[in-house]
Order: sequence, then C-alpha cells, then structure tokens
Amino acid sequence: MELLINGARHTVDADPTMPLLWAVRDLLGLHGTKFGCGIGACGACTVHLGGEAVRSCITTLEETSGKEITTIEGLGKAGDHPVQKAWKDANVPQCGYCQPGQIMQAAALLKQTPKPTDQQIADAMAGNICRCGTYQRIKAAIKSAAEAA
Ligand code: FES
Ligand code: FES
Repeated sequence: MELLINGARHTVDADPTMPLLWAVRDLLGLHGTKFGCGIGACGACTVHLGGEAVRSCITTLEETSGKEITTIEGLGKAGDHPVQKAWKDANVPQCGYCQPGQIMQAAALLKQTPKPTDQQIADAMAGNICRCGTYQRIKAAIKSAAEAA
C-alpha cells in the first residue's frame, strides 16, 4: 500500500483493511497519534484525511487511497501551527494523552470554520474525550487560535 503522509510517500507492506492507526504507529513509527478505544469513540487517534478529521482506528488503509494524510507530526513543522501555539499559551494538556487528537480535531474545525461559535466548537469537539477534564482550556485555546488567525 502507498500512503501519502505529512507530505512524503511511504510504501507499507500491509493488508488494505488494516486500520490507518496501526500503520501510522507500528509501521511508520509516528507515535504522536494515540490509541484510545479502537472503536471510533474517543478521538485520541484523530488525523486529517484529505483535510478532514477522521478516526484513524476505524479508517482502513484502502480508504486513504489517493488522499493526503496529516498526523500531529505534520501539522506544524516545529509545533508552530496556530492551534499548537494556542494550546501552549493556554497550558491545555494535563496528562497529554488525548491532546494530539484534540489538536487535530480543533485544527480541522478552524480550517473549515475560522470563527466558530461556542456551539460549533462544542459540536466539533464532542467526540474527543479527555479523561483529565481539560475541556474548558481546550475551548479557550480554540477561541484564542480563532482570534489570532
Ligand atoms: S482510538 Fe480511535 S476513536 Fe478512540
Ligand atoms: S489531558 Fe489527560 S486525557 Fe486529556
């Protein structure tokens, strides 16, 4: 299978039905994307596929055919994407485990809706679970990134 990830082409020896998350972490060594639930219910594994946020644990390699994949490692070359900057300024992470998925979800939201309302933020982020309860800081960082843009 050929994958276009973070601007580079990779060939992986994998079954087309393999979840993208497995290939990203285990075959390509990109460990920023996290495994949480494995059933599309937590958002820890969120990446961008063709610019849209998807759950990589329930996206097969064959579904990525011809589309660009972006993981947290490719979002900002030096961690300097506006969402990442806002995350740092707001000191969002606690344990950090859910945060790559939160950031990828937020970045996709702001790309599609640069000035989201509170309700649009709530709707877009509803599927990303944080066991540390950083939701208020996440919301504040998204607003701050939207204002800075
Ligand atoms: S690990 Fe993919 S949604 Fe939870
Ligand atoms: S920061 Fe710990 S799970 Fe979100």
